[in-house]
Amino acid sequence: MAEKKFDKNLLCIGAGYVGGPTMAMIAHKCPQYKVTVVDVVPEKIAAWQTDDLPIYEPGLLELVKLARGKNLFFSTDVAKGIKEAEIIFISVNTPTKTFGEGAGKSADLQYWEKTARDILRAADSDKIIVERSTLPVKTAIAMERILSLNERGLKFEVVSNPEFLAEGTAIKNLEKPDRVLIGSKETESGIKARNEIVDIYANWIPRDRLITSNLMSSELSKLVANSFLAQRISSINSISALCEKVDADIKEVAHAIGKDTRIGDKFLNASVGFGGSCFKKDILNLTYLCETFGLYEVAAYWESIVKMNEYQTSRFVQTINKAMFNTITNKRIALFGFAFKANTSDTRETAALYVTQKLMMERAHVVISDPKAIKNAKKDLKDYGADIEYQEDPYKAAKAAHAIALITEWDLYKGLDYEKIYHEMEKPAFIFDGRNILDHEKLFKIGYEVYPIGKPPMIHFKEA
Ligand code: NAD
Ligand code: UGA
Repeated sequence: MAEKKFDKNLLCIGAGYVGGPTMAMIAHKCPQYKVTVVDVVPEKIAAWQTDDLPIYEPGLLELVKLARGKNLFFSTDVAKGIKEAEIIFISVNTPTKTFGEGAGKSADLQYWEKTARDILRAADSDKIIVERSTLPVKTAIAMERILSLNERGLKFEVVSNPEFLAEGTAIKNLEKPDRVLIGSKETESGIKARNEIVDIYANWIPRDRLITSNLMSSELSKLVANSFLAQRISSINSISALCEKVDADIKEVAHAIGKDTRIGDKFLNASVGFGGSCFKKDILNLTYLCETFGLYEVAAYWESIVKMNEYQTSRFVQTINKAMFNTITNKRIALFGFAFKANTSDTRETAALYVTQKLMMERAHVVISDPKAIKNAKKDLKDYGADIEYQEDPYKAAKAAHAIALITEWDLYKGLDYEKIYHEMEKPAFIFDGRNILDHEKLFKIGYEVYPIGKPPMIHFKEA
């Protein structure tokens, strides 16, 4: 049977949290394109071909199933994918560098550069390269320089198209994004390439949401967007510490300031600290960029957002220790949630990891509970072996516990029978709500010693 002809062949290098969902959405919305996603990890590619996808994201499996095998394909054959494609999206990981110059701050570009060299080796026709990974400013220019080294006269136009989806809501964000940003060189060929990418998204996104800019503005906007979002969380978290001292309630303060349309009400939920693979990495990347240009005050300003986040998480653990009479040794503490936020299995940079490590240092008996992230938690905590207990069922996790520390805002935790849980816990029974999602009055009435974030604790006895 002759192979079905498609209008265009699109390739995505990197089948992770960005590559998989993004390409599934493009394939679903654009049946006229053939979409292939490649990765160097065979197990990941194999999982994308089953109903047990390598990542958990609400609505993702349904979306993948709509296009898989029709115009959406997963493969480990990177070179073949490159040869066939006219447009190549790159969404490989760009973690913080852990060694050498810029260690701890700048982006590790080794995976990125490898893809450039793979393209250089395999390509035998002109291509548009779309930078989807989050990268330091001017990376697109550097990539174009590497690609221009080919001796076959091939032309590569590199376009920046940063991803703004948030995990847990990725499908919603991809279907109805606030905006899609496409940056290019402002040359004739640059604008032509960018228009080709605009045309892909225009298949389902209104044109006024497709915004264009020069390459560097696009790359920088991604780092700045994440830094601004994280800055709001650190700001509200800093005020939560003050609220606990002055009998104010952070939720009331956030509500009052969020009503000001100039401030807005989003990203004002005080928490145990933000996590995720990107906020810290991208702020540090921005900081490093500023330092590179001698903008030390600007760098220090943005770095303070990360410091405030670390303070908030360590403050949470200190509160646990202090409330429980300054000793948690051998006490059973149930962690409700290990994912860095609700509706994801992702645990990268989760506050739960830091909290667990600190509790283990105090020799507590930690029990981890989470509806989707236990597999990843086990990997993250493998060095502790059998010293950490895992119980998906929160009732089992909390049974005979001295305390519950709620870390992830899963809806599931709001609806539990806290009366039943209380009766099976050691007394006094402590609950530390790192997300302020529980009914604190009700818990207090049941008998718990309740420690919210940004609100004085509700305790039945006087603290020492
Ligand atoms: P990820 O680790 O989930 O996925 C990256 C994938 O790239 C991995 O599966 C890895 O095996 C693969 N890979 C690495 N080098 C490769 C190579 N040379 N050839 C083929 N495959 C290769 O990462 P992610 O969370 O999808 O993030 C990717 C990029 O997108 C990062 O720059 C990140 O900052 C950015 N981003 C992430 C999110 C998010 O929500 N996770 C949102 C917006 C932007
Ligand atoms: C974030 C951005 O929201 C996305 O736009 C961006 O594309 C992505 O980073 C990225 O570049 O990777 P994500 O990290 O998936 O998305 O999730 P967020 O919803 O932003 O939450 C990040 C962290 O902040 C979570 O730990 C969350 O619980 C915490 N958070 C969020 C708060 O503590 N308070 C809030 O009010 C909001």
